[in-house]
Amino acid sequence: MHILHVVGARPNFMKAAPVMRALEEWPATRQTLVHTGQHYDKNLSDVFFSELSMPEPDVNLEVGSGSHAWQTAEVMTRFEPLVLERKPDVVLVYGDVNSTVAAALVCSKLLIRVAHIEAGLRSFDRTMPEEINRIVTDGIADLLFTPSEDGDVNLQREGIPPEKIYRVGNVMIDSLVQLLPAAMRCSTNGLPERYALVTLHRPSNVDDSASLRSILQALLEVNEQLEVVFPVHPRTRQRIEQFGINAKMLRLLEPVPYIEFLSLQRHAAVVITDSGGIQEETTYLGVPCLTLRGNTERPVTVTLGTNVLVGQDLVLLNSELARILEGRARKGSIPPLWDGHASERIVKVLQGYFAS
Ligand code: UD1
Repeated sequence: MHILHVVGARPNFMKAAPVMRALEEWPATRQTLVHTGQHYDKNLSDVFFSELSMPEPDVNLEVGSGSHAWQTAEVMTRFEPLVLERKPDVVLVYGDVNSTVAAALVCSKLLIRVAHIEAGLRSFDRTMPEEINRIVTDGIADLLFTPSEDGDVNLQREGIPPEKIYRVGNVMIDSLVQLLPAAMRCSTNGLPERYALVTLHRPSNVDDSASLRSILQALLEVNEQLEVVFPVHPRTRQRIEQFGINAKMLRLLEPVPYIEFLSLQRHAAVVITDSGGIQEETTYLGVPCLTLRGNTERPVTVTLGTNVLVGQDLVLLNSELARILEGRARKGSIPPLWDGHASERIVKVLQGYFAS
């Protein structure tokens, strides 16, 4: 049995690592790890491999950055000969990044089985590039592994046969559960006693000068009550420079490695973000999260977890923040199957599927 994994961008690494580890328990299985090179900065990529104890990629396609069409096409062009040569029995793709949809498209045309991990998530916002990637990947995958019930419902509504859908839970929480003890040992020296942790990189927030300016202005106001700690994504750093915005009053950091970032989340009074994965991690950790988006593809973080969508409504951001600082943050619970064992359930499904 030969299983090939495709990863490309930061959020893929913490999803693939636990699945690769769980697959090691399946005798006579060979694994190949392909990195598309969508993310190439050391602190968006390499550092995760060592922290997550992931093997070095067998192949790096070194695609790099470009427009969506260019990046997707380039992954497809470079991945096709590789997959023809390696002949895997199944290709595992993760999440919703451009590398995910590109690899899934290549395999479906070559009649190679594709399994999509983190299937079924929908923001119902087609202006979001990731939403297109989700819909296309789910439409062509052979096995769909969902993290929560809403994923199953979305897929069935789109006409995906129920026998292709497997609700296994959240693989990213597998990584969190595994590395939380290490995160708890991280030094918090040099950090303020109480702080707001901020991340920002969605094109809808950072690519438009007026939006980015008003969000950063709001963060400067937050900073007067609660120090803002802000690891800055390269896309966002480029935009801040390009638009000539002065954000130096905030504690701006380089992107932070995974374990250190878990520690930052764990100790934060509040997390303010537009990331998908961070909405889930804060829900698991029970840390209040204010999401700078009008929608989420992860609704259980709102219905069960600690997440509140504030969109670009900065008045709402302030009132929700005040509630949290007064100790009246909503108390969440951990969604079902977010228990650190999702990867083991995926392996069981694959064993059953390939045995039959
Ligand atoms: C991508 C994913 C997004 C994910 C995010 C996490 C897509 C459509 N988007 O967004 O779902 O949440 O990664 O980080 O796949 N850049 C660097 N160094 C790098 C990588 C990128 O400087 O290592 C810069 C490039 O200038 C590039 C920009 O960041 O143009 C954006 O990178 P890209 O991979 O296109 O998308 P992200 O915004 O990172």
